[in-house]
Amino acid sequence: MNNKKTIGILTGGGDCAGLNAVIASIVKAGAPAGHKFIGFEKGLEGLLNPVSYRELYPDNVRGISHLGGTILKTSNFGRFTSRIGSGESRNIPDDILQAAKNNLDKLGVDCLIVIGGDGTLSIALQLAEVGVNIIGVPKTIDNDLSSTDKTFGFSSAVEVAVDSLDKIHTTAASHDRILFVEVMGRHAGWIALNSGLAANANAILLPEFKVDIPELVGFLRKRKARRGSAIVVVAEGIELESGKFEQPKSDRLSENRLQGISTVLIDRIEQSCPGEFDMRNVILGHTQRGGSPDAEDRILAKRYGVAALEACEAGSFGQMVSLQNGQIGIVSIAEATGTMNRVSKATPAYTTAQKLGIYLNG
Ligand code: F6P
Repeated sequence: MNNKKTIGILTGGGDCAGLNAVIASIVKAGAPAGHKFIGFEKGLEGLLNPVSYRELYPDNVRGISHLGGTILKTSNFGRFTSRIGSGESRNIPDDILQAAKNNLDKLGVDCLIVIGGDGTLSIALQLAEVGVNIIGVPKTIDNDLSSTDKTFGFSSAVEVAVDSLDKIHTTAASHDRILFVEVMGRHAGWIALNSGLAANANAILLPEFKVDIPELVGFLRKRKARRGSAIVVVAEGIELESGKFEQPKSDRLSENRLQGISTVLIDRIEQSCPGEFDMRNVILGHTQRGGSPDAEDRILAKRYGVAALEACEAGSFGQMVSLQNGQIGIVSIAEATGTMNRVSKATPAYTTAQKLGIYLNG
Protein backbone atom coordinates (compact mmCIF):
# COMPACT_ATOMS: atom_id res chain seq x y z
CA MET A 1 0.00 0.00 0.00
CA ASN A 2 1.20 3.50 -0.80
CA ASN A 3 1.58 5.50 2.38
CA LYS A 4 2.28 8.74 0.58
CA LYS A 5 -0.82 10.89 0.74
CA THR A 6 -2.09 14.04 -0.86
CA ILE A 7 -3.17 16.24 2.01
CA GLY A 8 -5.30 19.37 1.61
CA ILE A 9 -5.10 22.20 4.14
CA LEU A 10 -7.39 25.21 4.56
CA THR A 11 -8.03 27.95 7.12
CA GLY A 12 -11.66 29.05 7.55
CA GLY A 13 -13.64 31.68 9.47
CA GLY A 14 -12.11 34.66 11.25
CA ASP A 15 -8.32 34.66 11.35
CA CYS A 16 -6.26 34.52 14.52
CA ALA A 17 -2.64 34.35 15.57
CA GLY A 18 -1.09 30.91 15.08
CA LEU A 19 -2.67 29.82 11.78
CA ASN A 20 0.64 29.97 9.91
CA ALA A 21 2.33 27.92 12.62
CA VAL A 22 -0.23 25.12 12.13
CA ILE A 23 0.18 25.17 8.34
CA ALA A 24 3.98 25.15 8.50
CA SER A 25 4.05 22.35 11.08
CA ILE A 26 1.82 20.04 9.06
CA VAL A 27 4.00 20.49 5.98
CA LYS A 28 7.35 20.29 7.76
CA ALA A 29 6.37 17.22 9.75
CA GLY A 30 4.83 15.46 6.74
CA ALA A 31 7.24 16.25 3.92
CA PRO A 32 9.93 13.69 4.96
CA ALA A 33 7.34 10.91 4.53
CA GLY A 34 6.79 12.01 0.93
CA HIS A 35 3.29 13.43 1.32
CA LYS A 36 2.08 16.10 -1.08
CA PHE A 37 0.39 19.20 0.38
CA ILE A 38 -2.23 21.36 -1.30
CA GLY A 39 -3.19 24.61 0.43
CA PHE A 40 -6.69 25.77 -0.53
CA GLU A 41 -7.09 29.54 -0.48
CA LYS A 42 -9.72 31.79 1.09
CA GLY A 43 -11.19 29.11 3.31
CA LEU A 44 -13.83 26.69 2.12
CA GLU A 45 -14.52 28.93 -0.87
CA GLY A 46 -11.21 27.73 -2.36
CA LEU A 47 -12.72 24.25 -2.79
CA LEU A 48 -15.35 25.54 -5.21
CA ASN A 49 -14.94 26.58 -8.84
CA PRO A 50 -12.75 28.29 -9.74
CA VAL A 51 -10.72 26.15 -7.34
CA SER A 52 -8.01 28.19 -5.71
CA TYR A 53 -4.97 26.38 -4.34
CA ARG A 54 -1.23 26.14 -4.31
CA GLU A 55 1.17 23.38 -3.48
CA LEU A 56 2.98 23.74 -0.16
CA TYR A 57 6.53 22.59 0.49
CA PRO A 58 8.88 23.06 3.45
CA ASP A 59 10.53 25.81 1.41
CA ASN A 60 7.45 27.99 1.00
CA VAL A 61 6.26 27.60 4.60
CA ARG A 62 9.67 28.47 6.06
CA GLY A 63 9.84 31.52 8.37
CA ILE A 64 6.07 31.99 8.75
CA SER A 65 5.31 30.35 12.13
CA HIS A 66 5.80 33.56 14.08
CA LEU A 67 3.66 35.64 11.73
CA GLY A 68 -0.01 36.52 12.29
CA GLY A 69 -2.77 36.00 9.73
CA THR A 70 -2.76 33.09 7.29
CA ILE A 71 -0.73 32.68 4.11
CA LEU A 72 -3.72 30.75 2.71
CA LYS A 73 -6.15 33.60 3.44
CA THR A 74 -9.54 32.91 4.97
CA SER A 75 -13.14 34.04 4.76
CA ASN A 76 -16.33 33.91 6.79
CA PHE A 77 -18.71 34.50 3.93
CA GLY A 78 -19.45 32.89 0.60
CA ARG A 79 -21.29 29.91 -0.79
CA PHE A 80 -20.74 27.75 2.27
CA THR A 81 -22.31 30.21 4.72
CA SER A 82 -25.94 29.56 3.95
CA ARG A 83 -27.19 29.48 7.51
CA ILE A 84 -26.27 31.51 10.57
CA GLY A 85 -26.35 30.76 14.25
CA SER A 86 -24.38 29.83 17.32
CA GLY A 87 -23.31 26.25 17.58
CA GLU A 88 -25.85 25.30 14.94
CA SER A 89 -24.72 23.16 12.10
CA ARG A 90 -25.18 25.01 8.86
CA ASN A 91 -27.37 23.37 6.29
CA ILE A 92 -25.20 23.50 3.23
CA PRO A 93 -26.95 22.58 -0.02
CA ASP A 94 -25.95 19.18 -1.34
CA ASP A 95 -24.80 20.53 -4.70
CA ILE A 96 -22.23 22.76 -2.97
CA LEU A 97 -20.93 19.86 -0.88
CA GLN A 98 -20.75 17.60 -3.94
CA ALA A 99 -18.98 20.26 -6.00
CA ALA A 100 -16.30 20.58 -3.31
CA LYS A 101 -15.92 16.80 -3.07
CA ASN A 102 -15.58 16.46 -6.85
CA ASN A 103 -12.83 19.08 -6.92
CA LEU A 104 -11.00 17.33 -4.08
CA ASP A 105 -11.33 14.00 -5.90
CA LYS A 106 -10.00 15.52 -9.13
CA LEU A 107 -6.90 16.71 -7.27
CA GLY A 108 -6.52 13.29 -5.64
CA VAL A 109 -6.83 14.70 -2.10
CA ASP A 110 -6.83 11.80 0.39
CA CYS A 111 -7.47 13.92 3.46
CA LEU A 112 -8.46 17.54 4.10
CA ILE A 113 -7.19 19.28 7.24
CA VAL A 114 -9.64 22.03 8.15
CA ILE A 115 -8.36 24.66 10.58
CA GLY A 116 -11.38 26.51 11.90
CA GLY A 117 -13.81 27.34 14.66
CA ASP A 118 -17.34 26.17 15.36
CA GLY A 119 -18.80 27.43 12.06
CA THR A 120 -16.09 26.11 9.75
CA LEU A 121 -15.91 22.75 11.53
CA SER A 122 -19.71 22.34 11.40
CA ILE A 123 -19.48 22.74 7.65
CA ALA A 124 -16.50 20.36 7.51
CA LEU A 125 -18.69 17.81 9.24
CA GLN A 126 -21.14 18.01 6.38
CA LEU A 127 -18.31 17.51 3.91
CA ALA A 128 -17.39 14.41 5.92
CA GLU A 129 -20.97 13.18 5.52
CA VAL A 130 -20.61 13.25 1.73
CA GLY A 131 -17.38 11.24 1.95
CA VAL A 132 -14.55 13.75 2.37
CA ASN A 133 -11.86 12.54 4.80
CA ILE A 134 -11.67 15.43 7.26
CA ILE A 135 -9.35 16.21 10.18
CA GLY A 136 -10.24 19.31 12.22
CA VAL A 137 -7.90 21.71 14.05
CA PRO A 138 -9.58 23.99 16.66
CA LYS A 139 -8.99 27.69 16.10
CA THR A 140 -10.67 30.76 17.54
CA ILE A 141 -9.74 33.69 19.72
CA ASP A 142 -13.07 33.27 21.52
CA ASN A 143 -12.03 29.83 22.95
CA ASP A 144 -15.67 28.76 22.67
CA LEU A 145 -15.13 25.31 21.12
CA SER A 146 -15.90 22.46 23.47
CA SER A 147 -13.99 19.17 23.79
CA THR A 148 -10.66 20.97 23.94
CA ASP A 149 -9.05 22.83 26.84
CA LYS A 150 -7.90 25.55 24.51
CA THR A 151 -8.04 26.80 20.97
CA PHE A 152 -4.94 28.52 19.60
CA GLY A 153 -5.27 32.27 19.04
CA PHE A 154 -6.97 32.76 22.39
CA SER A 155 -3.83 33.36 24.43
CA SER A 156 -2.50 35.99 22.00
CA ALA A 157 -5.87 37.78 21.98
CA VAL A 158 -5.86 37.87 25.79
CA GLU A 159 -2.33 39.35 25.69
CA VAL A 160 -3.53 42.16 23.40
CA ALA A 161 -6.41 42.91 25.77
CA VAL A 162 -4.17 42.81 28.86
CA ASP A 163 -1.68 45.17 27.26
CA SER A 164 -4.47 47.66 26.46
CA LEU A 165 -6.02 47.36 29.92
CA ASP A 166 -2.65 48.01 31.54
CA LYS A 167 -2.42 51.25 29.56
CA ILE A 168 -5.99 52.27 30.34
CA HIS A 169 -5.35 52.18 34.12
CA THR A 170 -3.24 55.33 34.25
CA THR A 171 -5.46 57.47 32.06
CA ALA A 172 -8.62 56.34 33.89
CA ALA A 173 -7.02 57.20 37.23
CA SER A 174 -5.67 60.57 36.06
CA HIS A 175 -9.13 61.74 34.99
CA ASP A 176 -11.25 59.94 37.57
CA ARG A 177 -13.10 58.31 34.71
CA ILE A 178 -15.01 55.10 34.16
CA LEU A 179 -13.37 53.44 31.19
CA PHE A 180 -15.12 50.64 29.32
CA VAL A 181 -12.88 48.36 27.26
CA GLU A 182 -14.83 46.27 24.76
CA VAL A 183 -13.24 42.97 23.80
CA MET A 184 -14.32 40.22 21.41
CA GLY A 185 -16.40 37.29 22.61
CA ARG A 186 -19.61 36.64 20.76
CA HIS A 187 -21.14 33.85 22.84
CA ALA A 188 -18.40 33.23 25.39
CA GLY A 189 -16.66 35.68 27.70
CA TRP A 190 -13.26 33.97 27.97
CA ILE A 191 -11.25 36.91 26.64
CA ALA A 192 -13.12 39.36 28.91
CA LEU A 193 -12.76 37.15 31.98
CA ASN A 194 -9.09 36.24 31.54
CA SER A 195 -7.89 39.68 30.48
CA GLY A 196 -9.95 41.40 33.16
CA LEU A 197 -8.59 39.12 35.86
CA ALA A 198 -5.00 39.41 34.62
CA ALA A 199 -5.09 43.19 34.28
CA ASN A 200 -6.98 44.02 37.50
CA ALA A 201 -10.18 45.31 35.95
CA ASN A 202 -12.82 46.43 38.46
CA ALA A 203 -15.77 44.93 36.62
CA ILE A 204 -16.14 42.28 33.91
CA LEU A 205 -19.31 41.88 31.85
CA LEU A 206 -19.82 38.52 30.17
CA PRO A 207 -22.22 37.38 27.43
CA GLU A 208 -23.23 34.32 29.44
CA PHE A 209 -25.36 36.24 31.98
CA LYS A 210 -27.77 39.17 32.03
CA VAL A 211 -26.42 42.66 32.68
CA ASP A 212 -28.34 44.44 35.44
CA ILE A 213 -27.75 48.17 34.86
CA PRO A 214 -29.02 49.43 38.28
CA GLU A 215 -26.77 46.89 40.01
CA LEU A 216 -23.77 47.88 37.87
CA VAL A 217 -24.44 51.58 38.57
CA GLY A 218 -24.53 50.76 42.30
CA PHE A 219 -21.12 49.11 42.03
CA LEU A 220 -19.64 52.02 40.03
CA ARG A 221 -20.97 54.51 42.56
CA LYS A 222 -19.21 52.74 45.42
CA ARG A 223 -16.03 52.37 43.39
CA LYS A 224 -16.07 56.06 42.41
CA ALA A 225 -16.51 57.09 46.05
CA ARG A 226 -13.52 54.99 47.10
CA ARG A 227 -11.10 55.34 44.18
CA GLY A 228 -12.48 57.86 41.69
CA SER A 229 -11.99 55.72 38.59
CA ALA A 230 -12.95 52.27 37.35
CA ILE A 231 -12.16 49.95 34.47
CA VAL A 232 -14.92 47.78 33.08
CA VAL A 233 -14.18 45.00 30.57
CA VAL A 234 -17.15 44.43 28.30
CA ALA A 235 -17.50 41.37 26.05
CA GLU A 236 -18.96 42.42 22.70
CA GLY A 237 -21.73 39.81 22.99
CA ILE A 238 -23.34 41.02 26.26
CA GLU A 239 -27.06 41.43 26.27
CA LEU A 240 -28.82 44.46 27.77
CA GLU A 241 -32.62 44.47 28.20
CA SER A 242 -32.72 45.95 24.70
CA GLY A 243 -30.77 42.90 23.43
CA LYS A 244 -27.34 42.57 21.81
CA PHE A 245 -25.89 45.37 19.74
CA GLU A 246 -25.74 44.07 16.20
CA GLN A 247 -24.77 45.89 13.05
CA PRO A 248 -27.09 45.63 10.04
CA LYS A 249 -26.71 42.15 8.60
CA SER A 250 -25.28 41.53 5.18
CA ASP A 251 -26.35 38.32 3.41
CA ARG A 252 -22.72 37.55 2.61
CA LEU A 253 -21.75 37.14 6.23
CA SER A 254 -22.25 33.98 8.23
CA GLU A 255 -23.03 35.87 11.45
CA ASN A 256 -24.29 39.30 12.46
CA ARG A 257 -21.53 41.81 13.09
CA LEU A 258 -21.20 42.94 16.68
CA GLN A 259 -19.01 45.78 18.12
CA GLY A 260 -20.46 48.84 19.78
CA ILE A 261 -22.31 47.48 22.81
CA SER A 262 -20.03 49.51 25.13
CA THR A 263 -21.29 52.73 23.51
CA VAL A 264 -24.89 51.61 24.09
CA LEU A 265 -24.03 50.68 27.67
CA ILE A 266 -22.58 54.15 28.37
CA ASP A 267 -25.78 55.73 26.98
CA ARG A 268 -27.91 53.53 29.20
CA ILE A 269 -25.90 54.37 32.31
CA GLU A 270 -25.98 58.07 31.43
CA GLN A 271 -29.77 57.90 31.04
CA SER A 272 -30.15 56.24 34.42
CA CYS A 273 -27.95 58.76 36.32
CA PRO A 274 -27.28 61.81 34.13
CA GLY A 275 -23.93 63.51 34.68
CA GLU A 276 -22.86 61.24 37.50
CA PHE A 277 -19.94 59.55 35.74
CA ASP A 278 -17.35 60.73 33.23
CA MET A 279 -17.29 57.72 30.89
CA ARG A 280 -15.29 56.73 27.81
CA ASN A 281 -14.99 53.51 25.85
CA VAL A 282 -12.36 51.76 23.76
CA ILE A 283 -13.27 49.00 21.30
CA LEU A 284 -10.26 46.74 20.78
CA GLY A 285 -11.85 44.95 17.81
CA HIS A 286 -9.59 43.21 15.36
CA THR A 287 -6.35 44.16 17.11
CA GLN A 288 -7.13 41.02 19.11
CA ARG A 289 -6.99 38.87 16.01
CA GLY A 290 -3.94 40.44 14.39
CA GLY A 291 -0.23 40.38 15.04
CA SER A 292 2.14 37.61 16.01
CA PRO A 293 1.12 34.63 18.10
CA ASP A 294 2.54 34.61 21.63
CA ALA A 295 4.78 31.73 22.72
CA GLU A 296 1.87 29.71 24.14
CA ASP A 297 -0.10 29.91 20.88
CA ARG A 298 2.95 29.12 18.76
CA ILE A 299 3.60 25.96 20.73
CA LEU A 300 -0.05 24.90 20.79
CA ALA A 301 -0.39 25.56 17.05
CA LYS A 302 2.72 23.47 16.35
CA ARG A 303 1.48 20.62 18.51
CA TYR A 304 -1.90 20.73 16.76
CA GLY A 305 -0.23 20.78 13.34
CA VAL A 306 1.90 17.71 14.02
CA ALA A 307 -1.08 15.90 15.64
CA ALA A 308 -3.31 16.69 12.65
CA LEU A 309 -0.74 15.18 10.31
CA GLU A 310 -0.53 12.06 12.49
CA ALA A 311 -4.34 11.77 12.59
CA CYS A 312 -4.36 12.01 8.82
CA GLU A 313 -1.71 9.29 8.49
CA ALA A 314 -3.64 7.10 10.94
CA GLY A 315 -6.89 7.61 9.02
CA SER A 316 -8.72 9.08 12.03
CA PHE A 317 -11.18 10.93 9.85
CA GLY A 318 -14.10 12.97 11.18
CA GLN A 319 -11.93 13.80 14.22
CA MET A 320 -10.56 17.04 15.61
CA VAL A 321 -7.23 17.31 17.40
CA SER A 322 -7.72 18.61 20.91
CA LEU A 323 -5.88 19.49 24.11
CA GLN A 324 -7.01 17.65 27.20
CA ASN A 325 -5.19 18.01 30.49
CA GLY A 326 -2.03 18.99 28.68
CA GLN A 327 -2.12 16.02 26.29
CA ILE A 328 -3.03 16.22 22.63
CA GLY A 329 -5.68 13.71 21.62
CA ILE A 330 -8.55 13.48 19.18
CA VAL A 331 -12.31 13.91 19.60
CA SER A 332 -15.11 13.65 17.08
CA ILE A 333 -15.87 16.90 15.25
CA ALA A 334 -19.56 16.22 15.90
CA GLU A 335 -18.92 16.27 19.64
CA ALA A 336 -16.71 19.38 19.48
CA THR A 337 -19.28 21.39 17.55
CA GLY A 338 -22.32 20.00 19.40
CA THR A 339 -22.11 22.33 22.38
CA MET A 340 -20.29 25.53 23.16
CA ASN A 341 -17.58 26.10 25.75
CA ARG A 342 -18.88 29.03 27.82
CA VAL A 343 -17.99 30.62 31.15
CA SER A 344 -19.99 29.36 34.13
CA LYS A 345 -20.18 30.58 37.70
CA ALA A 346 -18.02 27.59 38.65
CA THR A 347 -15.22 28.53 36.22
CA PRO A 348 -12.06 28.96 38.35
CA ALA A 349 -11.22 32.37 36.86
CA TYR A 350 -14.79 33.51 37.60
CA THR A 351 -14.72 32.44 41.25
CA THR A 352 -11.20 33.87 41.67
CA ALA A 353 -12.30 37.24 40.28
CA GLN A 354 -15.31 37.20 42.59
CA LYS A 355 -13.10 36.53 45.63
CA LEU A 356 -10.90 39.45 44.60
CA GLY A 357 -13.87 41.82 44.64
CA ILE A 358 -14.18 42.21 40.87
CA TYR A 359 -17.78 42.90 39.87
CA LEU A 360 -19.12 40.22 37.49
CA ASN A 361 -22.56 40.14 35.96
CA GLY A 362 -24.49 36.99 36.69
O1 F6P B 1 -15.55 34.37 16.08
C1 F6P B 1 -14.47 35.11 16.42
C2 F6P B 1 -14.75 36.57 16.36
O2 F6P B 1 -13.52 37.08 16.74
C3 F6P B 1 -15.90 37.09 17.22
O3 F6P B 1 -15.55 37.33 18.55
C4 F6P B 1 -16.28 38.35 16.47
O4 F6P B 1 -17.62 38.70 16.73
C5 F6P B 1 -16.09 37.94 15.08
O5 F6P B 1 -15.01 37.03 15.06
C6 F6P B 1 -15.84 39.08 14.13
O6 F6P B 1 -15.54 38.58 12.87
P1 F6P B 1 -15.48 39.40 11.52
O7 F6P B 1 -15.28 40.84 11.84
O8 F6P B 1 -14.35 38.81 10.78
O9 F6P B 1 -16.78 39.17 10.82
